[in-house]
Amino acid sequence: MQNNSENTNIRDKSPGESSADVIVRMFPSDANPAGNVFGGEILKHIDMVAGIVAQRHSQSNAVTVSMDSVNFIKPVFVGNVLKLNARINYVHNSSMEIEVKAEAEDIVTGIKTVTGTAFVTFVGLDKNGKPQHVPKLLLKTDEDRIKFEEGKIRMEERLKLRKKSNV
Ligand SMILES: CC(C)(COP(=O)(O)OP(=O)(O)OC[C@H]1O[C@@H](n2cnc3c(N)ncnc32)[C@H](O)[C@@H]1OP(=O)(O)O)[C@@H](O)C(=O)NCCC(=O)NCCS
Repeated sequence: MQNNSENTNIRDKSPGESSADVIVRMFPSDANPAGNVFGGEILKHIDMVAGIVAQRHSQSNAVTVSMDSVNFIKPVFVGNVLKLNARINYVHNSSMEIEVKAEAEDIVTGIKTVTGTAFVTFVGLDKNGKPQHVPKLLLKTDEDRIKFEEGKIRMEERLKLRKKSNV
């Protein structure tokens, strides 16, 4: 597996340097037949914000290889402002685990509710579409260190499941 040798500005980074917030308003066109926001619409935004983090960290093209532990805790309503926060927890060679939290805000009351969480794994790719090494994670805080260790355990479990299901 190659390192990204073309980009000389590439460097190791802390999770704080790549974290991202995305804010979107939910419209009637985002609803399911029951009138609440469609889960697939939320997944799209989760994938998008996680991708921003993965590309900021890797400074390369990066693709989604898995999404797991997706929890829809509370409904999101049409008219809500959906805020997604994403941070990188763990890095191996080319793979990166990104944690996403979704929060819905009722603009009128100002009430904010955590509505969902997910883990998304991205892989950094070279210009030929092959996995390449991504920068290491600089663990600066206790939270960074704890999340890294937890992410490592989850990644091992993920890969075991992948092996079991033969993909
Ligand atoms: C990304 C891709 C090129 C990787 O190819 P591959 O032959 O699986 O490569 P490898 O088996 O060497 O795996 C590369 C890395 O991905 C990780 N990985 C692969 N599948 C994974 C999964 N389901 N969950 C977690 N990590 C996974 C491997 O552990 C490895 O990590 P490491 O380099 O940190 O050790 C290939 O899977 C692909 O093109 N997938 C489609 C991606 C895509 O189009 N996504 C958009 C949504 S459809």
